[in-house]
Amino acid sequence: MVLASAPAKVILFGEHAVVYGEPAIAVAINLRTTVAIAKGKNFTVNGRPIEDKFHRYIKNSIDLLWRGDPLEIMTYSAVPSSSGMGSSASITVATVSALLHLNNALSEENVAKKSFEVEYITQGSASPTDTSTVTHGSGVLVSRKMNENFLWKIEKNGVKWYLHHLNIPSLKLVIGFSGIKGNTAMMVAKVRRFYRWNSFARDVIKEIGKITLSAVDALNNEDYETIGDLMNRNNRLLTILGVSHPKLRAMIQNASKYSYGVKITGAGGGGSIVALTDEQEEVAKAIEDAGGVAYIVEISRKGFIVEG
Ligand code: PMV
Repeated sequence: MVLASAPAKVILFGEHAVVYGEPAIAVAINLRTTVAIAKGKNFTVNGRPIEDKFHRYIKNSIDLLWRGDPLEIMTYSAVPSSSGMGSSASITVATVSALLHLNNALSEENVAKKSFEVEYITQGSASPTDTSTVTHGSGVLVSRKMNENFLWKIEKNGVKWYLHHLNIPSLKLVIGFSGIKGNTAMMVAKVRRFYRWNSFARDVIKEIGKITLSAVDALNNEDYETIGDLMNRNNRLLTILGVSHPKLRAMIQNASKYSYGVKITGAGGGGSIVALTDEQEEVAKAIEDAGGVAYIVEISRKGFIVEG
């Protein structure tokens, strides 16, 4: 039997702008998904026959990587689905790393690349931000140019992404899930319409890119005030792009009283916010007062873990 786990993630800076070639920063967080895989008589997930409809990421991982005997798979996830915390990347990376271990082909780069393939096949489109962050752990900078601490390059349909390790200080974060399931494809399409027709939207995207680059320095310097300030600025620009929601705004307003910075994380329209704070309990309460579900989290230094 092989046991494998992978963390969840939050995007700290640069969502949406990354679609247009601007950099983005994501970090792994200490909520994990675990899978246990053993050879068996039939392909099953949690005791039920594997089905395309319910187990899309697991099924596509097996179709891409497994040519052997039937597998019995058990899963456990602490990551809420469609919350912007990367639940699909987390289950994909856990499954892919277990399968690559069984194939004697396990390496960090291989896990990141194959997991991206699975997300791409399953979702129709994806950037490698989530899968690479969940694979590597700690922090990841995604950009269209190679910089210091380069990890690997991922290419799809003529688009190249360069993934880099980012030094991340210990961050006390609280995530507020609105309970409204985010629809990434819809929000990306909404921003794309704005981007195409409005030069102001294009300026906003460029400005988000600048904020992300400033955040790399602020993170390196462990300058929490500046990181928070940049998060607030990034949030204002995301709001201008039209990806906020009254419930996200209410959580942000409440959490701001106790935070260095608060912003929408991920595609928005629903999904989650992330707050950087020294007062995690107070922020959690403030988020729940606004009707959200709070998760007190920290950075996970570990990406995927496989125990053979
Ligand atoms: O909501 P999430 O976690 O799927 O994040 C989407 C991030 C976007 O930049 C909006 C899209 C992408 O693929 O990078």
